[in-house]
Amino acid sequence: MAAAAGIRVVPLTRSVGAEVSGVDLTRPLKVEEAERLRAALLDHLVLFFRDQAMTAEQHLAFARQFGEISIPPFAPRYGDDSAMMVLDQIAPEGEGGDAWHSDNTFMETPPMGSILRAVELPAVGGDTCFASMFAAFEALSPSLQGFLEGLTAIHDITAPLRKGIEAGHIDADLEQMREQWPPVEHPVVRTHPDSGRKALFVNSNSTSRIVQLSDSENAVALPFLLAHVRSPNFQCRFRWQVDSVAFWDNRSVQHYAVPDYVERRVMNRVTLEGDRPY
Ligand code: SIN
Repeated sequence: MAAAAGIRVVPLTRSVGAEVSGVDLTRPLKVEEAERLRAALLDHLVLFFRDQAMTAEQHLAFARQFGEISIPPFAPRYGDDSAMMVLDQIAPEGEGGDAWHSDNTFMETPPMGSILRAVELPAVGGDTCFASMFAAFEALSPSLQGFLEGLTAIHDITAPLRKGIEAGHIDADLEQMREQWPPVEHPVVRTHPDSGRKALFVNSNSTSRIVQLSDSENAVALPFLLAHVRSPNFQCRFRWQVDSVAFWDNRSVQHYAVPDYVERRVMNRVTLEGDRPY
Protein backbone atom coordinates (compact mmCIF):
# COMPACT_ATOMS: atom_id res chain seq x y z
CA MET A 1 0.00 0.00 0.00
CA ALA A 2 1.28 3.49 -0.81
CA ALA A 3 -0.05 6.99 -0.19
CA ALA A 4 0.65 10.35 -1.90
CA ALA A 5 -1.51 13.45 -2.22
CA GLY A 6 -4.28 11.62 -0.33
CA ILE A 7 -4.33 8.82 -2.89
CA ARG A 8 -4.21 5.22 -1.66
CA VAL A 9 -3.13 2.42 -3.97
CA VAL A 10 -3.83 -1.14 -2.84
CA PRO A 11 -2.53 -3.93 -5.13
CA LEU A 12 -4.92 -6.75 -6.02
CA THR A 13 -2.20 -9.23 -7.01
CA ARG A 14 1.58 -9.08 -7.23
CA SER A 15 1.59 -8.83 -11.00
CA VAL A 16 -1.47 -6.84 -12.04
CA GLY A 17 -4.21 -4.53 -10.75
CA ALA A 18 -4.64 -2.07 -7.88
CA GLU A 19 -7.64 -0.40 -6.25
CA VAL A 20 -7.19 3.34 -5.96
CA SER A 21 -9.07 5.58 -3.54
CA GLY A 22 -8.81 9.18 -2.31
CA VAL A 23 -9.20 10.82 -5.71
CA ASP A 24 -12.19 12.38 -7.48
CA LEU A 25 -11.98 11.72 -11.22
CA THR A 26 -14.87 14.07 -12.03
CA ARG A 27 -12.67 17.12 -11.35
CA PRO A 28 -9.40 18.20 -12.97
CA LEU A 29 -6.55 16.37 -11.22
CA LYS A 30 -3.88 18.25 -9.33
CA VAL A 31 -0.42 17.85 -10.89
CA GLU A 32 0.75 15.55 -8.08
CA GLU A 33 -2.43 13.45 -8.35
CA ALA A 34 -1.93 12.92 -12.10
CA GLU A 35 1.72 12.00 -11.45
CA ARG A 36 0.71 9.56 -8.70
CA LEU A 37 -1.80 7.86 -11.03
CA ARG A 38 0.73 7.69 -13.88
CA ALA A 39 3.26 6.04 -11.55
CA ALA A 40 0.63 3.65 -10.17
CA LEU A 41 -0.41 2.66 -13.70
CA LEU A 42 3.21 1.92 -14.57
CA ASP A 43 3.53 -0.26 -11.44
CA HIS A 44 0.15 -2.05 -11.49
CA LEU A 45 -0.90 -1.89 -15.19
CA VAL A 46 -4.61 -1.50 -14.40
CA LEU A 47 -6.14 0.83 -11.82
CA PHE A 48 -9.65 0.43 -10.39
CA PHE A 49 -11.67 3.28 -8.89
CA ARG A 50 -15.08 3.17 -7.15
CA ASP A 51 -17.97 5.66 -7.01
CA GLN A 52 -16.90 7.90 -9.88
CA ALA A 53 -20.23 9.28 -11.14
CA MET A 54 -18.73 10.90 -14.22
CA THR A 55 -20.66 12.51 -17.04
CA ALA A 56 -19.41 11.66 -20.55
CA GLU A 57 -17.68 15.07 -20.66
CA GLN A 58 -15.94 14.41 -17.31
CA HIS A 59 -14.88 10.96 -18.51
CA LEU A 60 -13.33 12.49 -21.64
CA ALA A 61 -11.73 15.30 -19.61
CA PHE A 62 -10.19 12.75 -17.20
CA ALA A 63 -8.78 10.80 -20.17
CA ARG A 64 -7.29 13.92 -21.80
CA GLN A 65 -5.10 14.44 -18.74
CA PHE A 66 -3.23 11.27 -19.81
CA GLY A 67 -3.02 11.75 -23.59
CA GLU A 68 -4.87 12.34 -26.84
CA ILE A 69 -8.16 10.54 -27.38
CA SER A 70 -8.04 7.75 -29.96
CA ILE A 71 -11.20 7.48 -32.04
CA PRO A 72 -12.00 3.76 -32.42
CA PRO A 73 -11.99 2.68 -36.11
CA PHE A 74 -15.21 0.82 -35.45
CA ALA A 75 -17.57 0.99 -32.53
CA PRO A 76 -20.98 -0.28 -31.54
CA ARG A 77 -23.66 1.77 -33.16
CA TYR A 78 -25.43 2.92 -30.00
CA GLY A 79 -23.16 5.87 -29.21
CA ASP A 80 -23.48 9.27 -30.86
CA ASP A 81 -20.09 10.68 -29.80
CA SER A 82 -17.29 8.98 -31.74
CA ALA A 83 -14.77 9.55 -28.92
CA MET A 84 -16.98 7.69 -26.42
CA MET A 85 -17.51 4.02 -27.15
CA VAL A 86 -20.70 2.65 -25.62
CA LEU A 87 -20.76 -1.10 -25.00
CA ASP A 88 -24.41 -1.97 -24.52
CA GLN A 89 -24.80 -5.74 -24.26
CA ILE A 90 -27.29 -8.32 -23.13
CA ALA A 91 -26.06 -11.46 -24.90
CA PRO A 92 -22.28 -10.95 -24.88
CA GLU A 93 -21.08 -14.42 -25.83
CA GLY A 94 -18.95 -14.31 -28.99
CA GLU A 95 -19.14 -10.52 -29.35
CA GLY A 96 -15.38 -10.00 -29.06
CA GLY A 97 -14.86 -8.88 -25.45
CA ASP A 98 -14.94 -12.53 -24.37
CA ALA A 99 -11.60 -13.33 -26.03
CA TRP A 100 -8.33 -12.33 -24.36
CA HIS A 101 -7.16 -9.21 -26.18
CA SER A 102 -5.48 -5.83 -26.14
CA ASP A 103 -7.56 -3.12 -27.78
CA ASN A 104 -7.18 -2.38 -31.49
CA THR A 105 -3.75 -3.91 -32.11
CA PHE A 106 -4.64 -3.97 -35.81
CA MET A 107 -3.68 -0.26 -35.80
CA GLU A 108 -0.08 0.77 -36.61
CA THR A 109 -0.14 2.69 -33.34
CA PRO A 110 -2.41 0.70 -31.01
CA PRO A 111 -3.94 2.60 -28.06
CA MET A 112 -1.80 3.38 -25.02
CA GLY A 113 -4.70 2.71 -22.70
CA SER A 114 -8.43 2.60 -22.17
CA ILE A 115 -10.70 4.00 -19.45
CA LEU A 116 -13.90 2.04 -18.90
CA ARG A 117 -16.81 3.05 -16.62
CA ALA A 118 -19.76 0.90 -15.61
CA VAL A 119 -23.07 2.65 -16.34
CA GLU A 120 -25.59 -0.18 -15.91
CA LEU A 121 -24.86 -3.69 -14.66
CA PRO A 122 -26.55 -7.06 -14.43
CA ALA A 123 -27.45 -8.20 -10.90
CA VAL A 124 -24.71 -10.80 -11.12
CA GLY A 125 -21.86 -11.51 -13.51
CA GLY A 126 -20.09 -9.37 -16.08
CA ASP A 127 -16.71 -9.15 -14.33
CA THR A 128 -13.62 -8.24 -16.33
CA CYS A 129 -10.30 -10.12 -16.05
CA PHE A 130 -6.93 -8.52 -16.75
CA ALA A 131 -3.61 -10.27 -17.35
CA SER A 132 -0.08 -8.87 -17.21
CA MET A 133 1.82 -9.50 -20.43
CA PHE A 134 5.06 -8.68 -18.57
CA ALA A 135 4.36 -11.59 -16.23
CA ALA A 136 3.39 -13.79 -19.20
CA PHE A 137 6.69 -13.03 -20.92
CA GLU A 138 8.76 -13.38 -17.75
CA ALA A 139 7.24 -16.84 -17.05
CA LEU A 140 8.70 -18.26 -20.28
CA SER A 141 12.11 -19.95 -20.33
CA PRO A 142 15.05 -17.72 -21.31
CA SER A 143 15.50 -19.80 -24.48
CA LEU A 144 11.93 -19.24 -25.64
CA GLN A 145 12.10 -15.57 -24.62
CA GLY A 146 15.20 -15.12 -26.80
CA PHE A 147 13.56 -16.88 -29.74
CA LEU A 148 10.36 -14.81 -29.52
CA GLU A 149 12.21 -11.52 -29.23
CA GLY A 150 13.37 -11.82 -32.84
CA LEU A 151 9.86 -12.35 -34.25
CA THR A 152 7.06 -10.17 -35.60
CA ALA A 153 3.36 -10.97 -36.04
CA ILE A 154 0.53 -9.82 -38.28
CA HIS A 155 -2.43 -8.08 -36.62
CA ASP A 156 -5.59 -7.89 -38.71
CA ILE A 157 -8.89 -6.04 -38.24
CA THR A 158 -10.89 -8.76 -40.03
CA ALA A 159 -11.62 -11.19 -37.21
CA PRO A 160 -12.76 -8.72 -34.51
CA LEU A 161 -14.75 -6.66 -37.03
CA ARG A 162 -16.51 -9.69 -38.50
CA LYS A 163 -17.56 -10.74 -34.98
CA GLY A 164 -19.11 -7.31 -34.37
CA ILE A 165 -20.89 -7.21 -37.73
CA GLU A 166 -22.24 -10.74 -37.36
CA ALA A 167 -23.45 -9.98 -33.83
CA GLY A 168 -25.33 -7.01 -35.32
CA HIS A 169 -23.83 -4.34 -33.11
CA ILE A 170 -21.37 -2.89 -35.60
CA ASP A 171 -22.52 -1.27 -38.82
CA ALA A 172 -19.54 -1.39 -41.20
CA ASP A 173 -18.46 -2.72 -44.60
CA LEU A 174 -15.81 -5.39 -43.97
CA GLU A 175 -14.07 -4.97 -47.36
CA GLN A 176 -13.95 -1.20 -47.11
CA MET A 177 -12.59 -1.36 -43.56
CA ARG A 178 -9.94 -3.88 -44.63
CA GLU A 179 -8.75 -1.43 -47.29
CA GLN A 180 -8.68 1.40 -44.79
CA TRP A 181 -6.95 -0.71 -42.12
CA PRO A 182 -4.61 -3.14 -43.90
CA PRO A 183 -2.88 -5.78 -41.75
CA VAL A 184 0.05 -4.47 -39.70
CA GLU A 185 3.20 -6.11 -38.33
CA HIS A 186 4.18 -5.73 -34.66
CA PRO A 187 6.95 -7.33 -32.58
CA VAL A 188 5.85 -10.48 -30.75
CA VAL A 189 7.60 -9.07 -27.68
CA ARG A 190 7.28 -5.32 -27.22
CA THR A 191 9.30 -3.03 -24.99
CA HIS A 192 7.30 -0.70 -22.78
CA PRO A 193 8.35 2.84 -23.73
CA ASP A 194 8.18 4.14 -20.13
CA SER A 195 9.54 1.23 -18.07
CA GLY A 196 11.64 -0.72 -20.61
CA ARG A 197 9.97 -3.96 -19.46
CA LYS A 198 9.22 -6.61 -22.08
CA ALA A 199 5.66 -7.75 -22.74
CA LEU A 200 4.25 -10.55 -24.86
CA PHE A 201 2.23 -8.83 -27.60
CA VAL A 202 0.02 -11.35 -29.42
CA ASN A 203 -3.72 -11.65 -28.79
CA SER A 204 -6.53 -13.88 -29.89
CA ASN A 205 -8.71 -11.13 -31.39
CA SER A 206 -6.29 -9.62 -33.88
CA THR A 207 -3.06 -11.61 -34.24
CA SER A 208 -3.31 -13.87 -37.29
CA ARG A 209 0.22 -15.29 -37.70
CA ILE A 210 3.88 -15.01 -36.84
CA VAL A 211 5.71 -13.76 -39.91
CA GLN A 212 8.95 -15.75 -39.66
CA LEU A 213 7.30 -19.14 -39.02
CA SER A 214 5.88 -21.62 -41.54
CA ASP A 215 2.17 -22.47 -41.55
CA SER A 216 2.75 -25.68 -39.61
CA GLU A 217 4.97 -23.90 -37.06
CA ASN A 218 2.34 -21.15 -36.69
CA ALA A 219 -0.33 -23.80 -36.10
CA VAL A 220 1.53 -24.83 -32.96
CA ALA A 221 3.33 -21.67 -31.79
CA LEU A 222 0.50 -19.15 -31.94
CA PRO A 223 -2.09 -21.27 -30.07
CA PHE A 224 0.60 -22.07 -27.49
CA LEU A 225 1.22 -18.37 -26.82
CA LEU A 226 -2.48 -17.50 -26.83
CA ALA A 227 -3.13 -20.26 -24.29
CA HIS A 228 -0.12 -19.21 -22.21
CA VAL A 229 -1.40 -15.63 -21.69
CA ARG A 230 -4.62 -17.02 -20.16
CA SER A 231 -2.93 -18.44 -17.06
CA PRO A 232 -4.54 -17.31 -13.78
CA ASN A 233 -0.97 -16.74 -12.55
CA PHE A 234 -0.86 -13.45 -14.46
CA GLN A 235 -4.40 -12.28 -13.76
CA CYS A 236 -6.71 -10.29 -11.57
CA ARG A 237 -10.50 -10.17 -11.79
CA PHE A 238 -12.59 -7.04 -11.21
CA ARG A 239 -16.15 -7.09 -9.86
CA TRP A 240 -17.89 -3.97 -11.18
CA GLN A 241 -20.30 -1.66 -9.41
CA VAL A 242 -22.11 1.18 -11.16
CA ASP A 243 -19.62 4.09 -11.46
CA SER A 244 -16.58 1.86 -11.05
CA VAL A 245 -13.80 2.83 -13.44
CA ALA A 246 -10.92 0.74 -14.79
CA PHE A 247 -7.93 2.44 -16.42
CA TRP A 248 -5.57 -0.03 -18.11
CA ASP A 249 -2.28 0.18 -19.93
CA ASN A 250 -3.07 -1.45 -23.26
CA ARG A 251 0.63 -1.98 -23.99
CA SER A 252 1.16 -4.35 -21.10
CA VAL A 253 -2.19 -6.02 -20.29
CA GLN A 254 -4.80 -8.07 -22.04
CA HIS A 255 -8.37 -8.24 -20.81
CA TYR A 256 -11.35 -10.54 -21.02
CA ALA A 257 -14.98 -9.55 -20.38
CA VAL A 258 -16.69 -12.55 -18.77
CA PRO A 259 -19.89 -13.20 -20.80
CA ASP A 260 -21.84 -14.82 -17.95
CA TYR A 261 -24.81 -12.46 -17.69
CA VAL A 262 -28.29 -12.29 -19.13
CA GLU A 263 -29.34 -8.78 -18.13
CA ARG A 264 -28.28 -5.51 -19.74
CA ARG A 265 -24.71 -4.31 -19.14
CA VAL A 266 -23.73 -0.83 -20.35
CA MET A 267 -20.15 0.42 -20.24
CA ASN A 268 -18.61 3.66 -21.53
CA ARG A 269 -15.07 3.48 -22.87
CA VAL A 270 -12.59 6.14 -23.87
CA THR A 271 -9.35 5.08 -25.53
CA LEU A 272 -6.04 6.94 -25.54
CA GLU A 273 -3.67 7.18 -28.48
CA GLY A 274 -0.50 5.12 -28.32
CA ASP A 275 2.68 4.81 -30.31
CA ARG A 276 4.28 2.27 -32.61
CA PRO A 277 5.32 -0.87 -30.68
CA TYR A 278 9.04 -1.74 -30.77
C1 SIN B 1 -13.37 -4.24 -23.69
O1 SIN B 1 -13.15 -5.33 -24.21
O2 SIN B 1 -12.71 -3.26 -23.94
C2 SIN B 1 -14.51 -4.12 -22.72
C3 SIN B 1 -14.30 -4.89 -21.48
C4 SIN B 1 -15.57 -5.05 -20.69
O3 SIN B 1 -16.65 -4.82 -21.25
O4 SIN B 1 -15.49 -5.42 -19.53
